[in-house]
Amino acid sequence: MRIDIVTGLPDILKSPLNESIIKRAQENGSVTITIHNLRDFTHDRHKTIDDTPYGGGAGMVLKPEPIFECVESLQKERTYDEIIYVTPDGERFTQAVATQLSLKNNVIIICGHYKGIDDRVRQGLVTKEISIGDYVLTGGELAAAVVIDAVVRLLPGTLHDSTSAMTDTFQDNLLGAPVYTRPPEYRDMKVPDVLLTGNHNAIEEWRQEQRIKRTTERRPDLLHKQ
Ligand code: ADE
Repeated sequence: MRIDIVTGLPDILKSPLNESIIKRAQENGSVTITIHNLRDFTHDRHKTIDDTPYGGGAGMVLKPEPIFECVESLQKERTYDEIIYVTPDGERFTQAVATQLSLKNNVIIICGHYKGIDDRVRQGLVTKEISIGDYVLTGGELAAAVVIDAVVRLLPGTLHDSTSAMTDTFQDNLLGAPVYTRPPEYRDMKVPDVLLTGNHNAIEEWRQEQRIKRTTERRPDLLHKQ
């Protein structure tokens, strides 16, 4: 999979994408992530990427030209399955959306300022709009990092244990079962006996019961989701 990120603030993305599993996924070739700085697609001395909104109001709006030029330069190289804009007024990001995106070959993610981007970018380029939740961030960069993290860990060869992603919380609308590691007893709290038996059927049964119990207690809404 190839992910191109279009941003005016490339430094925000560098560290979240260069650690741990996402770093390893890039090293082993599961994903290629390239960050494009919008300032490289300006033509004025000040490398201007934003301007005040027509009609007045607070905040700055990202100009259309650098975004169009950046995206079109990428489209000259390859076709893209999806051009995503991360925005609080997009479709809510869920595990199902992450799974759909993990099946794509080439995607672009455009990050905006909190006041947004010129609407002609949305009309003329964007094919999918994603919100990571009902709150407003100062820009789309952290939202893009969240989307990329959730998608990349689903790619084949990314996690050590391929069953790990399939047994995740949310993968089948259930929360995960509690997990424990050594020691078997700590500060009077004991690891449930069944986990120490080595009886895989009994352990699986216990985990499934725990998943249903946790989901019923914490997120009953998930049980009715299809
Ligand atoms: N940009 C700013 N806030 C956002 C959010 N909640 N989701 C996606 N992109 C955003």
